[in-house]
Order: sequence, then C-alpha cells, then structure tokens
Amino acid sequence: MKNFLITGGAGFIGANFVHHLLEKYPDYNVVVYDKLTYAGNLNNLVDASDDPRYAFIRGDICDAPTVERVIQDNEIDTIVNFAAETHVDRSIMDPDAFIQTDVYGTYVLLEAARKFGLERYHQISTDEVYGHIPPGHSSVETDPVAPRSPYAASKTSGDLMALAYWVTYKLPVTITRGANNIGPYQYPEKVVPLFVTNALEGKRLPVYGDGRQMRDYQWVGDHCAGIDVVLHRGRLGEIYNVGTGQELENLKMVEILLDELGASRDLIQHVEDRPGHDRRYSLNVDKLKALGWEPEHDCEAAIRKTVRWYVANEWWWRPIKEGEFRQYYEEMYGSRKEIAVG
Ligand code: NAD
Ligand code: DAU
Repeated sequence: MKNFLITGGAGFIGANFVHHLLEKYPDYNVVVYDKLTYAGNLNNLVDASDDPRYAFIRGDICDAPTVERVIQDNEIDTIVNFAAETHVDRSIMDPDAFIQTDVYGTYVLLEAARKFGLERYHQISTDEVYGHIPPGHSSVETDPVAPRSPYAASKTSGDLMALAYWVTYKLPVTITRGANNIGPYQYPEKVVPLFVTNALEGKRLPVYGDGRQMRDYQWVGDHCAGIDVVLHRGRLGEIYNVGTGQELENLKMVEILLDELGASRDLIQHVEDRPGHDRRYSLNVDKLKALGWEPEHDCEAAIRKTVRWYVANEWWWRPIKEGEFRQYYEEMYGSRKEIAVG
C-alpha cells in the first residue's frame, strides 16, 4: 500500500483523509480523483498543493476509461472511495445523481480494481444503511441493512456490490460505516456548518420537526484515523462501524453550538420535518476498538471544535454561501413552513 487513489478527495472527509495520509506516511503518494461537483472544493486541499507526493485529477468515477488510465499512469495499488452524492435532502429532491455516482460509480471503481489486481479497495459507507434504530439497540456490522432514503439506499447498494466483489472475485475489499462527521471543510448544507454559519450571519436555524432526532456527531479526524486503522489492520471482506458510540438529540447539538458561539436560543426555528426522517442512528463501535482505535473527541468536544473552525475560517465558507448555495437554500427552505412544537 503506497500509491493511493482517493476518489472524492476534494470533498469534506476525503480532503481531511488526504491531509491525514500525507502527514502520517512520508512514503505514500496520493492522487485525488474528483468530479468537483458543487460539494468538491480545491480550497480543501490548498495545504497539500505544493507537496510532490500529491496530485489532483478532475474526473468522474462513472467514466471507466479515465479511471483505468489514471490507475495505470499512477501505478495505483489502493483505492479509497469517498466519491458520492451525500446530502439526504438533495436525494429526496432528485435521486438521479445518487444512483449514478453512489451505485454505478462504485461498480466502475470495483471493476477497475479487479482488472488491475489492486492490493485494496476501501469503500466509505455510512450508518444510514442500517435505517432507523429503535431505542435500546446499537447497530453492529452483522445487522441487516434497512435504508430508508434514496441516499441511504444508494449507499447500501454500493456496500452490497463491494461485498459481492469480495465473495465472488476475492477482490480485497474493506468497508467502514461512519456516523455523522463534523469538522473543517464540510459543505454548509449539512446541519452543523449550516447552523454555525447561519448564526454568524444572524439568520435563523431551521430545526426539522421537534429536533428530538438522535445522531452521533463525530470529529472528522477521528473518522479518518479509524479508516487508516482498517486499511492497515482490518480483515478483508469485513465491515467496521466508525463513530463515538454516543448519541445526541439534535436540539442538544444546537444548544452546544449556540453556547460555544455565545448566541441566543431565539435563533432556533422549528420547521416542517424531512420526509421519512430517520429518528435515530446508533453505532456499536467495539469491532473497530478491538483493532486498537479510540476516538479522541466525544460529540460535545467535536461540536465545539467545529464551531471554532468556522468562526476562524470565514474565508472558506463565505464564498460558498454567497454563490449558487443561495438558490439551493431558497429551494430547500423557502417554502418550508414554521411549526409549533409543544
Ligand atoms: P462531500 O459531499 O463533502 O464530498 C463528496 C465528493 O465527491 C466531492 O468532492 C464531489 O465533487 C465528489 N464527487 C461526487 N460525485 C463524483 C463523481 N461522480 N466522480 C468523482 N467525484 C465525485 O461528502 P463527504 O461528506 O465528504 O462524504 C464522503 C463519503 O463519506 C461519502 O461516500 C459519504 O457517503 C460518506 N459518509 C459521509 C458522512 C458525513 O457525515 N459527511 C458520514 C458517513 C459516511
Ligand atoms: O449518518 C451519516 C450521514 O450523516 C452521512 O452518511 C451523510 O452523508 C451526511 O449528510 C449525514 O446525514 P444526515 O441526514 O444525518 O445529516 P444532516 O446534516 O443533513 O442532518 C443531520 C440532522 O439534522 C438530521 O437529523 C436532520 C437535521 N437537520 C438537518 C438540516 C440540514 C435539521 O434539523 N435541519 C437542517 O436544516
């Protein structure tokens, strides 16, 4: 494992993982292959741009000939696939790109990995594949999948295809299923960066429904460290959950965020819920811990550290929020009614 193809490496987690690899492994080479959709951003990779071990290639994972050429030209031995359409609300508005990238694109990468006999194919997946988790249970890797949004269904399909390539062709596959990541470079459509930046702009924070949904908000650096451990110590053909193992109500997350900002709770605005909204995710992360990994941040520490990053890095998020994001925001939230929560 030496020459990495990081697909989707100009996105939030992918870029953090590129920085992680370059900092930790002096003899690794990293090629980022990314389509640069609305979510891809080369500002996420500026710190790597002068590193001779790093290269960027713009391209689509659905484009098999280009994927194959990039693998050959760069003597790639390992693919870590972060490339995906990732926002649940967008998948509800228009699932098409999710099927293309998260399902067909994953197949293209698996097929290329098989053709060139790569040492490893690692699929970045999500806790959303398990669906809504009733109180009292935390998902283990052997649980059945039960996705409920178009996004979750497309990610589940990617996982199942990757597992099929392990079983059928003995392609050396591993999979990680992460809980909600937060930290530097997250596109401000996702709840934490959206709410921090809205509050900094004096705008209200649109909490879906009663805000009592449970999520495990993990620091992106802890997730990257978990992926690293699975790449180096994980068993082939296996799935590993990655999260803090804690969970927090969204309203509690908002309270922590506002407290760190010193902002008023009057900014909270309850609005109509997301259709099919999964009420609770909860991961059991013992299998990854058994490989020697431990998260360094709990949910609260991750939220506070994330808030401080957005406060200190307006250069990064202001141009995004002033661009095509405005149209998205209007479309997504413009006609969403405020609701009373008793
Ligand atoms: P992101 O939306 O920030 O970035 C996705 C990246 O993929 C972007 O750079 C985009 O340009 C690129 N991309 C999209 N379609 C592509 C295509 N067809 N070809 C090449 N590149 C393409 O996403 P993220 O939050 O960093 O998520 C990365 C991965 O982690 C995804 O697979 C996602 O499902 C998974 N995941 C995310 C979270 C989370 O909380 N954000 C949690 C668990 C798992
Ligand atoms: O759980 C892992 C998943 O986390 C990843 O696989 C996805 O790629 C990532 O987008 C994220 O999905 P969520 O739907 O959990 O994230 P989001 O930030 O969209 O929402 C988090 C919670 O906040 C969820 O319960 C919905 C709620 N929410 C979200 C938005 C955008 C609001 O209340 N208001 C909002 O405006």
